[in-house]
Amino acid sequence: MRRFIVTTQRQKMLIRGATPLRGSISAQGAKNAALPIMAASLLLSREQLIIDRIPDLQDTRTMADLLGHLGAQTTFEKGTMIIAAPEEPDWETPAHLVRKMRASSLALGPLLARCGRAVLPLPGGCAIGGRPIDLHLKGLAKMGAQIELVHGSVHAKAKGLRGCRIYLDFPSVGATENLMMAAVFARGQTILENVAREPEITNLAEVLRAMGAKIEGEGTGTIRITGVKELSGTRITVIPDRVEASTYLLAGIMTGGEITVHQVIPQHMDALLAKLEEAGAEVFCTEETVSARAPQRLRGISVKTLPFPGFPTDLQPQMMALLSIAEGSSIVQEGIFESRFLHVPELQRMGAHIEVQGNSAVVTGVPALHGTDVRATDLRAGAALILAGLSASDQTEMFGVEHVARGYEKIVEKLGHVGARVEIIPCPDEDA
Ligand code: UD1
Repeated sequence: MRRFIVTTQRQKMLIRGATPLRGSISAQGAKNAALPIMAASLLLSREQLIIDRIPDLQDTRTMADLLGHLGAQTTFEKGTMIIAAPEEPDWETPAHLVRKMRASSLALGPLLARCGRAVLPLPGGCAIGGRPIDLHLKGLAKMGAQIELVHGSVHAKAKGLRGCRIYLDFPSVGATENLMMAAVFARGQTILENVAREPEITNLAEVLRAMGAKIEGEGTGTIRITGVKELSGTRITVIPDRVEASTYLLAGIMTGGEITVHQVIPQHMDALLAKLEEAGAEVFCTEETVSARAPQRLRGISVKTLPFPGFPTDLQPQMMALLSIAEGSSIVQEGIFESRFLHVPELQRMGAHIEVQGNSAVVTGVPALHGTDVRATDLRAGAALILAGLSASDQTEMFGVEHVARGYEKIVEKLGHVGARVEIIPCPDEDA
């Protein structure tokens, strides 16, 4: 079994701003598609799942480590991960990995389907508000699982799950994925209603189908799964990362330059592109590239985050950074998470005028931000601060850079390639 080394040394990012970024960047494979697809390997027995275009990120390495602990053999080279499933996986997920990453909860459905039992310490992840997994557990219970909470861990057991109709109170991405994977071996048909329609769900459904699952309706509000007896190994490709691609597009616009992002599916970025055009940006798409530029200062707009195809919550902090330097006022409403405004005080330190009222923020644009010391509290907050720093008049030092490593592969190289002056340097403890 291969264990991946996870670095714990503290680092900070130095960003020297005010340079227009121009050029091309290739998008990585989508983190949020790679993680559930990797978890789907737990459904296999002594077969291989070969996954191309896996981004090399802290989170994908944590998931590989988790699978290793459960008995899988993983190799990861040049973006291709080969996961060899054990005959019988272990069903107890280790707390130190689960607490690092909320997506570890995606092991629950497949383990229950394959082993009839699973233990999952309550997961961690980004500090963006209360993120329960009650919808996952409610759905699994409806399929016949017995679920108990023992000393902060979920203990789930089932003597064979059974197909049924499950209505999700909210189209949770993780609950949809977990229940899809739990249902592949369930007796009869499972009908999942009010499910998430994100492209990452579609990618997972394609993979499960390629493994032999009977599944239809992904990308709509209802997914139907008819249980099968076993699955077989396959080789598949992860879709492009729409959040990463969008972040780089915003970097071009905010610095007065123009970035073209390659190897993307522009339709997955429709909500962002529409909002950028509304704000006055020019957007150009081909079948697999997107570029954007702002011929003059953008104007303020209203943005509300919603489940796909609405505006993604994972771009809300970055969009707020952009609107901080737009002309006039903007309103940003967070419709998915309870407290996803932890980037606001940091943007304010850089000169942004933002007033938060509940789940809304009123942003009054200023002509420019200025560099200072800031701290990333979560992955996308970090991305927003990097964008702010790239546009700012002088140098920004961003602490908490390890959050960004969870989601952006080779970010320093990629930004450097389009002209940014950024570097990651060790951060002595007294600075951290
Ligand atoms: C996934 C993404 C994350 C993104 C989020 C929303 C991955 C690995 N992560 O997270 O980047 O920000 O979708 O697009 O794909 N909820 C409940 N009970 C549940 C489950 C969710 O109340 O059982 C709530 C959450 O607290 C949150 C909302 O539903 O307010 C959305 O969560 P969900 O769609 O489940 O997000 P994740 O799957 O965790």
